[in-house]
Amino acid sequence: MAFNVEQIRKEFPILAEQLESGRELVYFDNAATAQKPKSVIDAVSNFYLRDNANIHRSAHELAGRATMGYEGAREKVLKFFNAPKGYTAIFTRGATESLNLVASSWGRANLKVGDEILISKMEHHANIVPWQQIAMQTGAKLSVVDILPDGTLSMDDFVKKLSSKTKIVSITHASNVLGTINDVETITQMAHTVGAIVSIDAAQSSPHLLDDVSKIGCDFLSFSGHKCFAPTGIGVLIAKEEILNAMPPYQTGGDMIENVSFEKTTFRVAPERFEAGTPHIAGAIGLSAAIDWLSGIDIIEARKHEHNLLQILTEGILSISGASIFGMAENKTAVVSFAIEGVHPNDIASLLDADGIAIRTGHHCAEPLVLSTGENSIARASLSFYNTEAEVRKFIDVLSRSVALLR
Ligand code: ALA
Repeated sequence: MAFNVEQIRKEFPILAEQLESGRELVYFDNAATAQKPKSVIDAVSNFYLRDNANIHRSAHELAGRATMGYEGAREKVLKFFNAPKGYTAIFTRGATESLNLVASSWGRANLKVGDEILISKMEHHANIVPWQQIAMQTGAKLSVVDILPDGTLSMDDFVKKLSSKTKIVSITHASNVLGTINDVETITQMAHTVGAIVSIDAAQSSPHLLDDVSKIGCDFLSFSGHKCFAPTGIGVLIAKEEILNAMPPYQTGGDMIENVSFEKTTFRVAPERFEAGTPHIAGAIGLSAAIDWLSGIDIIEARKHEHNLLQILTEGILSISGASIFGMAENKTAVVSFAIEGVHPNDIASLLDADGIAIRTGHHCAEPLVLSTGENSIARASLSFYNTEAEVRKFIDVLSRSVALLR
C-alpha cells in the first residue's frame, strides 16, 4: 500500500472547499474533529436512501439490512482495535458518553469512601468531570498524576499515587493539547498489579491509529467516531464483557431489557444492556465505512508523513521570536499548542482564518491543564495525514506575518 497524500486528499471533498474569503481551506483543527472521506458520506447517505429501518425489532428486509449494517460495524470496530475474545463494543455518542458510562455505572457499583480514582493533569474535561461527579457521590477521592515540564506524564508521580486504594486509573492515550503519547501499556500493567481497573481515553490517539486493545490490555477504551473520519454523534466503549455484565445499566428503556413487568425488569447482557433505545444506526454505518477507509491506509507511512509535518511545524513556530510550545514530548501526535508573547491567540486565529487557515484557540476542553501553563488561552494547530508540507509552510508564513502585524 503506497501512501500518496494527494490521492488521499481527493477522497475528502471538503479539502477542496473555496472559502468565502476566496482562499483555499487549510484545515488544522483535526483534534477538534476530522473531515470525512466521500465513502463515509456516501455510506450514511446510502443508508437513508436505501436501507433505513430500526434494528433488532422487525422481521422485514430493511430491518435486516439495518441490523446487519449496525452489528457489522460492531464487529469491524473490535477487529480494527484488535480487541481479543472477551471484549465487546458498545455504541455511544462519543468518548464523552463512553467515559460517563464507565464513571457512572462502574463507579456507582464499585466505589466507596477510602477508594481512589487516578487520572492525570493532562486529561480533557470528559476524563475529569465524570470522575469528579462520581467521587462526590460515592465519597471516593480523585487523585491527579502530575506532568513534567516537557509535557510527559510523571511516571514517578504515577508510581507514588498508585496504591491498593486505587480502584480505577483513567488516563488518556494522547493529550489533545500537548500531543503527548502516554505509555498506556506500562500504565495498564502497573495499575493491574494493584488490582485497579484501567480506562483508556483514546479520543486523540485513535485518529492516529495508535490503539491496540490486545497490546494495551486495558479494561475500558473510549473513543469518538468523528475524530476518526466518521460522523459526529457516534462513539464506542470497548470493554471486557465480564466487567460490563457485572455493572448496572447506564440508561434504561427499549432494546436493553429481557423482560419487563410493572413489578420488575430484567436486563440483557452487554453490549445491548448499555444501548437503550434506538441508537445512531446511520452513525455506526458511517463509522464502519470510516474503518474500511482507514484499513486501506498505509499506517506506517501515514505516521511518518505526520511526523515529518510535526517537525516542520514545530521548527517553524519556534523560529518566531517570543513563541513557546506546550508539549515537547519525544513521542507525540501532530498537535502543536503554542503562545506568542504579546499577541493574543484569538487575534492570531482571526488573521490565519482570513487566509483560509483553521486552528483552535482557548482552553481546548482541558482548562486545568491550560491554566497550569500560566495562559488563559492558547492556540493549537492539529494535523492529520491528509495535510501537506505546503500547507504547513503556508501556515508558518502567514503566522509570521500576522505576528509582525499584531506587534
Ligand atoms: N476535545 C476536542 C478538542 O480537543 C473538542 O478540540
